[in-house]
Amino acid sequence: MPSSPLLFFLLLLCFFCTQLSCTETEVQALLAWRSSLKDPGCLTQSWTSNNISTDPCQWDGIKCNEAESITSLSIVFCQIDGTLDKFNFSSFPNLTELWMDHNENLHGGIPKEIGTLHNLQYLCLSFNNLVGEIPVTISNLSNLEELDLSGNHLTGAIPSAILNMSGLHSLILGSNNLTGQIPKTIGNLFNLEELDLSGNYINGAIPREIEHLNKLTRLYLYENELSGQIPLEIGNMTELQIVDLADNKLQGNIPATIAQLPNLSALDLENNQLNGTVTPYLGNNSNLVEISLSNNDFVGMTYVILA
Ligand SMILES: *[C@@H]1O[C@H](CO)[C@@H](O)[C@H](O)[C@H]1NC(C)=O
Ligand SMILES: *[C@@H]1O[C@H](CO)[C@@H](O)[C@H](O)[C@H]1NC(C)=O
Ligand SMILES: *[C@@H]1O[C@H](CO)[C@@H](O)[C@H](O)[C@H]1NC(C)=O
Ligand SMILES: *[C@@H]1O[C@H](CO)[C@@H](O)[C@H](O)[C@H]1NC(C)=O
Ligand SMILES: *[C@@H]1O[C@H](CO)[C@@H](O)[C@H](O)[C@H]1NC(C)=O
Ligand SMILES: *[C@@H]1O[C@H](CO)[C@@H](O)[C@H](O)[C@H]1NC(C)=O
Ligand SMILES: *[C@@H]1O[C@H](CO)[C@@H](O)[C@H](O)[C@H]1NC(C)=O
Ligand SMILES: *[C@@H]1O[C@H](CO)[C@@H](O)[C@H](O)[C@H]1NC(C)=O
Ligand SMILES: *[C@@H]1O[C@H](CO)[C@@H](O)[C@H](O)[C@H]1NC(C)=O
Ligand SMILES: *[C@@H]1O[C@H](CO)[C@@H](O)[C@H](O)[C@H]1NC(C)=O
Repeated sequence: MPSSPLLFFLLLLCFFCTQLSCTETEVQALLAWRSSLKDPGCLTQSWTSNNISTDPCQWDGIKCNEAESITSLSIVFCQIDGTLDKFNFSSFPNLTELWMDHNENLHGGIPKEIGTLHNLQYLCLSFNNLVGEIPVTISNLSNLEELDLSGNHLTGAIPSAILNMSGLHSLILGSNNLTGQIPKTIGNLFNLEELDLSGNYINGAIPREIEHLNKLTRLYLYENELSGQIPLEIGNMTELQIVDLADNKLQGNIPATIAQLPNLSALDLENNQLNGTVTPYLGNNSNLVEISLSNNDFVGMTYVILA
C-alpha cells in the first residue's frame, strides 16, 4: 500500500502533537497537499516524515501563533510543481498571510475554497502559472489588505465583488489576461494605496469614480486597451506619486488638474492618442522628475520645463 508510510507518519504525528501541541489538522492538510505535488521543490528537506522530531512550526516557511496554530505560510521561489486543488484551505482558520509566489510550475486554477481563509490579510500568488478566472469568493476575505495575483494567465473580468473589499490597501492584478472594463465600483476601495491592473486586455474608460481613491499613491494601468479621456477628477487624488497610463488608446487632453497633484513624481502617458497642447503648468510641480509623453497626437511643443 503506497499510502501506508503516510498513515504511519500521521499516527506518529498524533503522538507528537500532544507532545508539541501543534494543530494536527493543519499538519495533515499540509502533508496531504505536499504529497499531491509532482515535485515538492524546496519543501523536499522540510515538511517530511523524516522531520517528525521537529516542531512543524519550525518547518520552512511556517509561522505559528502561541497556540501553535499556523498563521503564515511562505512558499516562495520554491520550484514546487503541482496545483492548489488538494490544498485544504478550511484547515487553516488562523492563517493571516499566504505567500506563494514565483513558482513557475504552480499551475491550475485558484480554488473557490480560498474564500474560507477568513483571517487572511495578505494573499500573494504572483508569478506562478495560474489560469482561469479570479474566484468571486475572494471577496469573502474581508480582512484582506493586500491582494497580489500578478504575473499569471488569469482570464475573465475583474469580479465586481472584489470591489467591495474596502480594507484593501493594494490590489495588484497586473500581467494577466484579464478583460472587461474597470467597474465604477472601484471607488469603493477607498483605502487603496496601490492599484496595478497593467498588462491586461482591460478596455473602456477609466471611471471617474476613481477619484474616491484618495489614498492612492501608485496607479498602474499601462498596457491595456483603455479608451476615452483621462478623467478630470484625477486631480482630486492628492496623494498620487506615480501615474502610468502608457500604451493604451486614451484620447483628448491631458487634464490640467494633473498639474495640481502635489506629490506627483512620475507621469507616463506615452503611446496613447492624446491630443491638444501639453499644459506647461506640469512644470510647476517641483516633485515631478519623470515624464513621458511620446507617441501621442499633441500639437506644438511637447516639452515641459521641470522646476
Ligand atoms: C527538517 O527541517 C528543517 C527546517 O525546515 C531543515 O533545515 C532540516 O534539514 C530538515 N531535517 C531533515 C532530517 O530533513
Ligand atoms: C487559532 O488560534 C487560537 C489562538 O489565537 C487558538 O485558540 C485556536 O485553537 C486556533 N485554531 C486552530 C484551529 O488551531
Ligand atoms: C479539510 O479540512 C477540514 C477541516 O480540517 C475537514 O473537515 C475536511 O474534511 C477536509 N477536507 C478534505 C477534502 O480533506
Ligand atoms: C462566502 O460568503 C457567502 C455569504 O457571506 C457564503 O454563502 C459563502 O459560502 C462563502 N464562501 C466561501 C468560500 O467562504
Ligand atoms: C494570454 O494572452 C497571451 C497573449 O495574447 C496568449 O498567448 C495566451 O494564450 C493567453 N492565455 C490564456 C490562458 O488565455
Ligand atoms: C457589495 O456589498 C454590498 C453591501 O454589503 C452588497 O449589497 C452588494 O451586493 C455587494 N456587491 C457585490 C458585487 O458583492
Ligand atoms: C474633483 O474634481 C472635479 C474636477 O476637477 C471638481 O469639479 C470637483 O470639485 C472635485 N471634487 C472634490 C471633492 O474635490
Ligand atoms: C505628500 O508627501 C509628503 C511627504 O512624503 C507627505 O507628508 C504628504 O502627506 C503627501 N501628501 C500631500 C497631499 O502632500
Ligand atoms: C482630440 O481628439 C478628440 C477625440 O478624438 C477630438 O474630438 C478633438 O477634436 C481632438 N482635438 C484636437 C485639438 O485635435
Ligand atoms: C504655474 O507657475 C506660473 C509661474 O510661476 C504661474 O503663473 C501659474 O499660475 C502657475 N500655474 C498653476 C496652475 O499653478
